[in-house]
Amino acid sequence: MAIERTIRYTGKEVTILWKQHLCIHSKKCWLGLPEVFKPGERPWIIPDGADGQRIIDQVRQCPSGALSIAEEANGTVEGSEPTGNMENEKTVVEIMPNGPAIVKGTVEIKHSDGTVELKEKQVALCRCGQSQKKPYCDGTHRTCGFVG
Ligand code: SF4
Ligand code: FES
Repeated sequence: MAIERTIRYTGKEVTILWKQHLCIHSKKCWLGLPEVFKPGERPWIIPDGADGQRIIDQVRQCPSGALSIAEEANGTVEGSEPTGNMENEKTVVEIMPNGPAIVKGTVEIKHSDGTVELKEKQVALCRCGQSQKKPYCDGTHRTCGFVG
């Protein structure tokens, strides 16, 4: 079971938050903005590697909700918006090819043990059945040969 923690990367313009346990290793961030997201390095996020707006735009594309921008970063750049369809407040489910179902919007997850979790932006739900942190995707679909 992945440890649930949020790591902060504080820059001059923005503070990037990364929830490791939500990351599904989609590579979107490091393919989109390699000056900031460097998976082979430690720290792997360089919050001053690009201007604040480019970082915010990239963070919005994180499919799992692992990345976000701290709202209190400073006064010059607004915090990230949820990537879900907020204009008409619909909840949207996007099926990733050979991967998870991305639920965009605010959802309550009611677990079988009765606990309830609120996911306010988006969440990746496992479709391959092999995740170690079901119902959430943990990236295992990429190595288990899931097709669907
Ligand atoms: S899930 Fe988000 S943080 Fe993880 S690799 Fe993809 S874009 Fe980056
Ligand atoms: S769909 Fe990603 S681990 Fe199952």
